Amino acid sequence: MPLNRRHFLAATAAATALPRVALASPMVLRAGPVTAQIMPEGDGTTALWGFNGSTPGPELRARVGDMLNVRFENGIGSGSAIHWHGIRIENGMDGVPGLTQPLVEAGAEHDYSFRLPDAGTFWYHSHHRSWEQVERGLYGALIIEEETPPEVNHDITVIVDDWRIERTGELIEDFGNRHDFAHGGRMGTFARIVPTVSTVRKGDRVRLRIINTATARIFPLEITGITGKIVALDGMPLAQPRDLERSVLAPAQRMDVIADVTDTVQFLFPTGQDPYPLGDIAVDGENPTPITAPIAALPQPRISQPAATPDHRLTMRLEGGAMGGRHAGDDIWSLNGVSNLPDAPWQRFARGDTVQITIVNDTAFPHGMHLHGHHFHELEEDGSPGPLRDTTLLMRGQSRDILCVFDNPGKWLLHCHMLGHQASGMKTWLEVA
Ligand code: C2O
Ligand code: CU
Repeated sequence: MPLNRRHFLAATAAATALPRVALASPMVLRAGPVTAQIMPEGDGTTALWGFNGSTPGPELRARVGDMLNVRFENGIGSGSAIHWHGIRIENGMDGVPGLTQPLVEAGAEHDYSFRLPDAGTFWYHSHHRSWEQVERGLYGALIIEEETPPEVNHDITVIVDDWRIERTGELIEDFGNRHDFAHGGRMGTFARIVPTVSTVRKGDRVRLRIINTATARIFPLEITGITGKIVALDGMPLAQPRDLERSVLAPAQRMDVIADVTDTVQFLFPTGQDPYPLGDIAVDGENPTPITAPIAALPQPRISQPAATPDHRLTMRLEGGAMGGRHAGDDIWSLNGVSNLPDAPWQRFARGDTVQITIVNDTAFPHGMHLHGHHFHELEEDGSPGPLRDTTLLMRGQSRDILCVFDNPGKWLLHCHMLGHQASGMKTWLEVA
């Protein structure tokens, strides 16, 4: 389903800023129905689900090393659970019903309490029927600040998402659509950014924490009106900040940018023709005393270094879907011939094992593969460990090696974050003892 251009163009008129919420402990996140202004102010509203009355849910902010204590109250009328995406979390708090916790039934509540080992940009979302629940709006940002955050004038979270809605704003509720599952997933008719700040000054230094919360859409992004660097991917600082050029965010991926504002900050979705505007952050006034220090690397994460020679080398073949490719599983998609969660884990590792996995995309669609409880290195062409990620994007026909130190004990999912693919077979699990 192509994005509707008229919708897109209208979207730039109004970017709704999300309120920031002070963090009480325990913080209550209550899931329930909400009415959201997804389309521009003055256009129709959309009936969705959210947390504490809004979608995206409130931004949770804490400091690295803190405990996060959240009471989840389930008011959506069906079962749910919350997953803390990208957090190297204690297994029992990972929020996967059937694997790490029981389902939180309608009307019930569940307490989450865990330590935050890494500073960075993370998010939380439903992990039950996520292809429907995340799509209906059950997600929010989880921001973990450094002990000494880099100096900026604004620390801005920018959620980018799409929604499948009518021009009236009415939600199109064909969530379990098998045609979408077998193809690229549920694509929206309307997309935009949801930033936490709507104006900045010329000359301000900003940190942009960009999160793709879409359930299927990959967002190539072009950001104009700033000059700066990419300093982190998927919540993990880069050893060397990268030039800010056109970049791509798969569903669930994040990117932190530190940059200086030169003009209106526009978020564009490049296409073959004119780019689609996803919205902007306006410029109002000028900063008389701009920050001039060079943009430096963020403090590096305290994470285990991979062994020089991996303890295991494995291959994971992504299979199935429409339009060709091998297909061995009993559902639409499979991993190494197996659809959905097997009773026994795909692999068992000893705690601390370094594992190299060659992921082969033998399908006609892109997939964003996400590993729970760990970050892994994407290997560069020359075999050296590249950036740390929790979700890696493989375009059709592409292969990539990842290198991971499995140092977090427990049962961990590995699945496609195109959530319709996950729902129709593209998931497995592994165990670290
Ligand atoms: Cu963001 Cu298993 O999920
Ligand atoms: Cu997929």
